[in-house]
Amino acid sequence: MNNKDIIDSKIQKLRDLKYESQQGGGQSRIDAQHAKGKLTARERMSLLTDKNSFREIDALVHHHSTQLGLDKTIPLGDGVVTGFAEILGKKVYVFSQDFTVLGGSLAEMHGKKICKIMDMAIKTGAPVIGLNDSGGARVQEGVISLGAYAEIFLRNTLASGVVPQISVIMGPCAGGAVYSPAITDFIIMVDNTSYMFVTGPKVVKTVTHEDLSSEELGGAMTHASKSGVAHFIAKNDLEAIEIVRKLLSYIPANNAEEPPFVPNDDPIDRINEELNYAIPANPNQPYDMRDIITKIADLGDFLEVHKEYAQNIIVGFCRLGGRSVGVVANQPNVLAGVLDIEASKKAARFIRFCDAFNIPLLTFEDVPGFLPGSDQEWRGIITNGAKLLYAYCEATVPKVTIITRKAYGGAYDVMSSKHIRGDINIAWPTAELAVMGAKGAVEIIFKREIETSDDPTKREQELIDEYNDKFANPYIAASYGYIDDVIEPKYTRQRLIEAFSLLENKVDKNPPKKHGNIPL
Ligand code: HXC
Repeated sequence: MNNKDIIDSKIQKLRDLKYESQQGGGQSRIDAQHAKGKLTARERMSLLTDKNSFREIDALVHHHSTQLGLDKTIPLGDGVVTGFAEILGKKVYVFSQDFTVLGGSLAEMHGKKICKIMDMAIKTGAPVIGLNDSGGARVQEGVISLGAYAEIFLRNTLASGVVPQISVIMGPCAGGAVYSPAITDFIIMVDNTSYMFVTGPKVVKTVTHEDLSSEELGGAMTHASKSGVAHFIAKNDLEAIEIVRKLLSYIPANNAEEPPFVPNDDPIDRINEELNYAIPANPNQPYDMRDIITKIADLGDFLEVHKEYAQNIIVGFCRLGGRSVGVVANQPNVLAGVLDIEASKKAARFIRFCDAFNIPLLTFEDVPGFLPGSDQEWRGIITNGAKLLYAYCEATVPKVTIITRKAYGGAYDVMSSKHIRGDINIAWPTAELAVMGAKGAVEIIFKREIETSDDPTKREQELIDEYNDKFANPYIAASYGYIDDVIEPKYTRQRLIEAFSLLENKVDKNPPKKHGNIPL
C-alpha cells in the first residue's frame, strides 16, 4: 500500500467508528422508542441545541466489562451522548441518555462521560443539561454502576449554585437515579412517557399493598402537582426541550455572570389603567395575581415555574425593561393566598435559585398570613415557613416588593419586608398592613365591649369599620418608612423598571461563613 492508501484506510476506520457510534441500539429499538412517542437521544440533542453547534465528545468510549454476557455487546458511546453546544448563542454542556443502548443504563464509562462534561462545565462556568431516559444502574456492572451514580451526585452538589443544572426526564428514572435530578435546579418531566420513583409499583404493592400504575406513582402530573419534584410538565419531548431553551433565556451561565439582558419594544413607561381597578373593594374577594404580573411584565410574558404545585403562591421569570426578574407572588385566587408548608418550600427554593444566580427578585404581596390548623402545625409549618423567611433574609440580590392588598401578621415580615433587607417596597392604595384582618382584631381587642353592648352585632360592625378606617391602609406603615411609597397601580411597571435599574449595581454581603444552616 502506498502512503495515501494507508492514510485513507485509517480515515475510513475513523469514519466507520464514528458511524457505528451514531447508530444507537439499532433500527428496531429506535422504532420501539418512536412507537412510545419518544425521540431518540440524538434527535433530542439536535432539537435542543443551536443549529450545527453540538460537538460530541467521548463518542468512542465503551464499557470494559465482561460480566453476564456484556462482552458480546460493546456499543460505542456506552448509552449516552455527551458534549458541548450552544443554546441561544451561549455555551452549554449536555448529556442525553440513549434508551436504545442497553436501556440507557448507567455504569462505569457512561457515568465517567457525564462526570467529564460536568467537570468541564464547573471549570468553564456553563450550564449542564441532562436528558434522562434510563433503566437505572446497569445490572451487569453491579456496584461499579452504583459508584458511577455517586460520582455524579457529588458533582451535582458541587455544581449547585455555581452553574445552573437542568434535568429533563424523558423516560424511566428510578431508584437512586432520581437523586441526581433532585439535586439539580429544575426538573422538566414529559407527560405519559416519563416517571420517577425511588421504588416502583411492584415493590410498593408488596410493601404497602397499594396498587398504583407507574403514572400514578411517579408520572409527570403526580410530580408536578402532588410532590413538587417536577417544576415543569411538558406534553411531549419537543415541548420539554422548548421549556429548557426558554428557561435558559432568563438565567446566566454561572454565578459570576449577570442574567441575560434582552431588550424588547414594550415601552418602559407603559401605563395600564386597568391596574387601578384590579383589586376588588371587598377584601374577601379573590382575584388572579397572574393577571397583574402579565399586565406589568415585558410583552405580557411570564414563564411560570411549579405551576401545578402549591398554587397559593406563584413563582416564575419575566422581564422588566429587558432585565430578567424572578417573581414571587401570593395568589389570592387559591386559599386566599395563604402561606402553608408547600407554598413556603416552593417559594424558598425559587428565591435561593435566583439569589445564587444574581437574578433580582420581585415580590407581589397579598397574604392573609400563615395557614392555621393541626395539619400544618404537626407537619412543621414552623420549620417550613422559616425556610421562606430564611431565603428572603439571606438573599442579597435586588429585592423589590409591591403590596397590592393584605400584608398581615408574620407574613408581612416574611414577604420581603424592608426589615429583612427589601430594597424598594411600594404599596398600592388598596394595601392593608396590619397584624391581622379587622374582624379577627376586633374580636380580640373588643371581645368584652362587644359582649356587653346592647346590640353586639351592630357594635362589632362599628368597631370593624373603625379598625378598617384606621388600620387597613398603607399609611401607618408609610409614616414609619416601612414602605417607600404608595403609588397608583397603573404606574407600577414604570416604577419597577426604575427600581431595578437603580439597584443594578447593588452590593450587599452576608457575614463570612462556611454555609448557613437553613431549617431543612
Ligand atoms: C441493564 C437494562 C436495564 C438495566 C433496561 N435494560 N434496564 N440493562 N441494566 N438497569 C435493558 C433491557 O435488558 C433491554 O435490553 C433494554 O434495556 C430495554 O429494556 P426493556 O425492559 O425491554 O424496556 P421496557 O419494557 O420499556 O422497560 C423499561 C424498564 C425496564 C421499566 C426500565 O427495563 C426495567 O425495569 N429495567 C430495570 C430497572 C431497574 O430496576 N433499574 C435499577 C434501578 S435501581 P434489550 O437488549 O432486550 O433491548 C438504580 C439504583 C441507582 O438505578 C443507584 C444510585 C444510588
